[in-house]
Amino acid sequence: MKRLTSLLVVLLLMTSFAYSQMSKTGLNQDAKYAEQVDSVLALMTLEEKIGQLNQLSGDGEVTGPISLNNESQEAIRKGHVGSMLNINSSSYTRKIQKIAVEETRLGIPLIFGYDVIHGYKTIFPVPLGESASWDLEAIEKSARVAAVEATAAGQHWTFAPMVDIARDPRWGRIMEGAGEDPYLGSEVAKARVRGFQGADLEKKNTMVACAKHFVAYGAARAGRDYNTVDMSKRKLHEVYLPPFEAAVEAGVGTFMTSFNELNGVPVTGSKKHVKGILRDDWNYDGLIVSDWGSVMEQVVHGSAKDLKEAADYAMNATVDMDMEGHAYLPHMKELVEEGKVTEEQIDAAVRRILHKKFELGLFDNPYRYSDEELEKEVTLTDEHRQLSRDVARKSMVLLKNDNNILPMNAEVKKVAIIGPLADAKREMIGTWSAQGEAKHVVTLLEGVKNALPDAEINYVKACEVEDSDKSGFDKAMQAAKEADFVIAAVGEKAMMSGEALSRMDIGLPGVQEDLVLELAELDKPMAVVLFNGRPLVLTEVDKAAPAILESWLPGTEAGNAIADVLLGKYNPSGKLTATFPYSVGQVPIFYAHKHTGRPRTEARYTSKYIDGPNEPLYPFGYGLSYTDFDYRDLSLSNAELTTDGTLKVSVQVKNAGDMEGEEVVQFYVRDLEASVTRPVKELKGFKKIALKPGEKKTVEFTLTPEDLAFYNRDWEWTTEPGTVKVFVGGDSQNTLEAEFDLKE
Ligand code: NOJ
Repeated sequence: MKRLTSLLVVLLLMTSFAYSQMSKTGLNQDAKYAEQVDSVLALMTLEEKIGQLNQLSGDGEVTGPISLNNESQEAIRKGHVGSMLNINSSSYTRKIQKIAVEETRLGIPLIFGYDVIHGYKTIFPVPLGESASWDLEAIEKSARVAAVEATAAGQHWTFAPMVDIARDPRWGRIMEGAGEDPYLGSEVAKARVRGFQGADLEKKNTMVACAKHFVAYGAARAGRDYNTVDMSKRKLHEVYLPPFEAAVEAGVGTFMTSFNELNGVPVTGSKKHVKGILRDDWNYDGLIVSDWGSVMEQVVHGSAKDLKEAADYAMNATVDMDMEGHAYLPHMKELVEEGKVTEEQIDAAVRRILHKKFELGLFDNPYRYSDEELEKEVTLTDEHRQLSRDVARKSMVLLKNDNNILPMNAEVKKVAIIGPLADAKREMIGTWSAQGEAKHVVTLLEGVKNALPDAEINYVKACEVEDSDKSGFDKAMQAAKEADFVIAAVGEKAMMSGEALSRMDIGLPGVQEDLVLELAELDKPMAVVLFNGRPLVLTEVDKAAPAILESWLPGTEAGNAIADVLLGKYNPSGKLTATFPYSVGQVPIFYAHKHTGRPRTEARYTSKYIDGPNEPLYPFGYGLSYTDFDYRDLSLSNAELTTDGTLKVSVQVKNAGDMEGEEVVQFYVRDLEASVTRPVKELKGFKKIALKPGEKKTVEFTLTPEDLAFYNRDWEWTTEPGTVKVFVGGDSQNTLEAEFDLKE
């Protein structure tokens, strides 16, 4: 074995020499690794190649002895594993890597993957919350911090960003994405890829990103996770695919296929979607991994008769790696022997995997990311906590603020903090919180105490999040009566959004709504602070409470960030990226709907509910500020736009209040005359600007015909002449309007 390892070393030295020569000649990155990859591939048996396609999960333990079960360790030794997920900490990854490097015939290092979704140890707001900041720089920084901490702990590869569009708040995983809109979703996808991967994957503090879950997973029927999806080609291409394509443009290193079937075929085995769209249409040549067991689940879906057929479908769809599916390893050799899969296909998949390992520098030093000293140094630093606090406050959305109850007066003497989430550390970091720990979290109670050291703070939990016991209400009412200001901290627990956490009733769980309504009856200055990973139905809360702040699941610095907003140290600027329904019966509800042939009027036979409004409670793009922004002078540079032209759309925004603030200026269009129906509004641009009191800024957007292109009746990507409306405003409903003629 030693001899073979030295042979490999010699080969690698030769190829790194070849590389240094190549870089001088300016050959591109891929060519640079291609020779190295081939040099390793040439040494591998078919069995070893198939081993590389296999990804197993560890036990996720950080401390203590290696508890990775013997079977998995043995599989690594046999060269049957190319990657592990859920192996945490620098010391643990080092130990497991050692098995692959020292005890396998060729010593090929493992690539470690992990769900680093919204932070590693320093936890940031859940992604839906972050997206509500509309601040791409902040979102990128958050992913950067996550990568810095995770890579020092030995992780190479994050299974993020999730770029699934979600228009059904019952689906628990709406929390992991950027909401309902494909344009915003694409911008956020790119920012997050940039953040994780940085400019150079060879750097020790950058990690490979993974665009997931390809595709249409967010459209699970009835919002129930893993449910089936039946979707038109138009909807797929216009709504669900764009963020994935954006991720390819941003250079995302890997993709993950989804659990769901799409129009009868599980996507993991769908050649039409995975190979057809991703590889052939988009020229994506990176690594594709299945979701956990999704190769195997084709059998459970009922579309593959056994594991072997499942492996056949997935490999022919060009899924390179089988995550915990246990289908490739036992069956791939047989499939090759039977000619159902060619060795060239296996080689292509192995190349893509080895390529990542070379890019990450693992062949030079398989342990380069497992650095205990660095892990201590860069994890949960003050700087990272500050960034998390800043992103958290930027993510918060002020939903209601009657009579400018907020910001609170800093001179307030007595504050009552009521509710089951006021001092609930674990709940603040949500699910997929990687190595985040409750003990590091600042709760709302702690944050307000930090911010108001001289005030008397009276905390009453009042009830649990979920049960029906109201025995704590009396004490809560008493505390509220005696207070000058009441803060009600209510919402969902961490484990109420995320994977396999769909809900059919998306109101406040348990008796929390009753708590808010009873508190509101006291007619005290009061703010409801919400914690949740999805849009909720807040219709009754909205009627009763004078002020509502949506804080999402804000992460490690939750309480400090909330206190910054409540006390006006930060003027809220977040805007919703997913519609908050008036009633769950409106779901799926989203701003970019079609007009219908009978749009709602008072007339009898029009598209409406007889027992409630069509409109949501809070629309997409909505969010208040402590100041007012005036929009005026919407103007177009031209009355028409020609095929090779551009149109400038500008608007003047003024801070008409007396506090400095930031505003997300949103730009929408509507194609009024097309051969196919178009949405009533489509986001085409946004800018987040800061304005001092009285300050005005002219905000400009540029529109080209490509921005207005769509698939026409004959499925040609084109524009069509006719009138187009433009809308600019601070949310998707409240806008100034103008129109122009799109020329052929
Ligand atoms: C299943 C989830 O769907 C996916 O998002 C995640 O990355 C994998 N499990 C690995 O944990």
